[in-house]
Amino acid sequence: MQETVSEKHGLAAGDDVRPERPDWTIDQGWENYTADEHAVWKLLFERQTRLLPGRACDEFVAGMRALPIGADRIPDFRRLSEVLTKHTGWQVVAVPGLVPDDVFFEHLANRRFPAGNFMRKRSQLDYLQEPDVFHDVFGHVPMLMNPVMADYIQAYGKGGLKAQKLGVLDLLARVYWYTVEFGLVEQSDGLRIYGAGIASSYTESIFSTDDPSPNRVRFQLERVMRTHYRIDDFQETYFVIRNLDELLHLAEVDFAPLYERVKREPELEPGMLLDSDELLTRGTGHYHAARRHGAAA
Ligand SMILES: [Fe+2]
Repeated sequence: MQETVSEKHGLAAGDDVRPERPDWTIDQGWENYTADEHAVWKLLFERQTRLLPGRACDEFVAGMRALPIGADRIPDFRRLSEVLTKHTGWQVVAVPGLVPDDVFFEHLANRRFPAGNFMRKRSQLDYLQEPDVFHDVFGHVPMLMNPVMADYIQAYGKGGLKAQKLGVLDLLARVYWYTVEFGLVEQSDGLRIYGAGIASSYTESIFSTDDPSPNRVRFQLERVMRTHYRIDDFQETYFVIRNLDELLHLAEVDFAPLYERVKREPELEPGMLLDSDELLTRGTGHYHAARRHGAAA
């Protein structure tokens, strides 16, 4: 499938929603959350907290422990920002949902993480396309406590602004997708989750770590830049870094010559494998094959 970064960060063309502030931030409106919204948070928080031991990486667990995040109520971004600022200089700012790419990158480049302030409905516990407060806070904020991830995401923001001018945002967005959102990391005791898209999803936390269906391939930058991703389902391939310090190296890469080279290479479908891939797991592909079969039936 063809993805565009706008599907991830931006509003659809023709959408006439315009915020009062030019940077699209709003007040979180913490006092306005209903008892039911806090209860949905609690449900998601408790379910995910039971699942993640042995699945989430050590840095995720350490970040979560050090933050004022608990089961009983949706976190207050002001309290989160106080702790984050002390550790890595980041803040969490509230936005109404998806924001345009340039606004998103400008925030990241300045160590502000735009987080959706709305809470998903009970009918959307396992899937919603727009990032809500559970995805953004539970999934992303613990990793922002890690100095390497903190620098990496800021570098992505700066890189995104440049890539946009060069018209190659899709190539860079894949790197973000397969690291910040859907990355796995090797630890001495096995593969672990560090991507927020996985860490905030009950079903994908299990699928990405336990299921025989997906491929798990050693991360290689240019390979990832060529690879389409799925925005509407589990990933067919997960890319695995050796340790978080690999992201430190990525933050220092000069992407301009890479874009030129990668643009000349064929693009790759999400489940495709190459002879040059270092495979940790060759997936059976059964999950997506069944979905395709179902779609064709
Ligand atoms: Fe995200």
